Amino acid sequence: MAGRMTAPRLTGLKGKRPIVMITAYDATFARLVDAGGVDVVLVGDSLGNVIQGHDTTIPVELDHVIYHCRCVSRGLERAHLVADMPFMSYQVSDDEAIRAAGRLLKEGRAQSVKLEGGRRVAALVRRMVDAGIPVMGHVGLTPQSVHQFGGYKLQGRKDAAAAALLEDAKALADAGVYSLVLEGVPGDLAAELTAAVPVPTIGIGAGPDCDGQVLVIYDLLGMDERFKPRFLKKYVDLSTTIVDAVREFGDEVKAGSFPGPEHTVRRKQ
Ligand code: KIV
Repeated sequence: MAGRMTAPRLTGLKGKRPIVMITAYDATFARLVDAGGVDVVLVGDSLGNVIQGHDTTIPVELDHVIYHCRCVSRGLERAHLVADMPFMSYQVSDDEAIRAAGRLLKEGRAQSVKLEGGRRVAALVRRMVDAGIPVMGHVGLTPQSVHQFGGYKLQGRKDAAAAALLEDAKALADAGVYSLVLEGVPGDLAAELTAAVPVPTIGIGAGPDCDGQVLVIYDLLGMDERFKPRFLKKYVDLSTTIVDAVREFGDEVKAGSFPGPEHTVRRKQ
């Protein structure tokens, strides 16, 4: 734990420097993104999309997130580990939610949890914080509400919806979140929300005026071609690199050129 980024330190970065957050789901990627200098690694319920191959995050179970958190925690030396609370792990009752968050810290070795929603989860957030569990909020295009939204649609475009998001962000800050993800909201609204709360906002599809940015690692590496919202940026096209490498391996196996002598151990004479 020594040397790891903490929730209070992340809160203290507001107004000082931007926060860099990325998702990871296994120890190898965790080691790589940690070496890449990120502040926060999120084991997101986006694992339902990129690891499990679902269309939504809804099928993800608490045990899945715990399993991936344990894997990721073994790869981290510096970055803060936050665990997503999956759909129905915090909606049924506050007691069940606090127990679930506790498991993410105890068994998953996460340092904090993230959950979706505004005023409707504020009292729960307060109870979690009182129990010693740091909480990251998440408002805007919250993917667990995809069926309620009728699709993955930008939120807060109309005045009434923007005003509601402002109330949500303030209620979460009052309840004690240490930071707040803003997903899929207009950039000018994100700027307003960022100015209105004392904790850092971390944007995805929310323009440049947040206190930090988060991306799903598979999108950044160009490895998941199914989801292409405009606000994502592909920093490298690894899918082509991977397909080409696998094809080359197959070609060499078929041609009998792999393994060559340099990859083959012989018994001593
Ligand atoms: O599940 C996830 O990866 C997330 C980020 C996109 C913020 O919630």
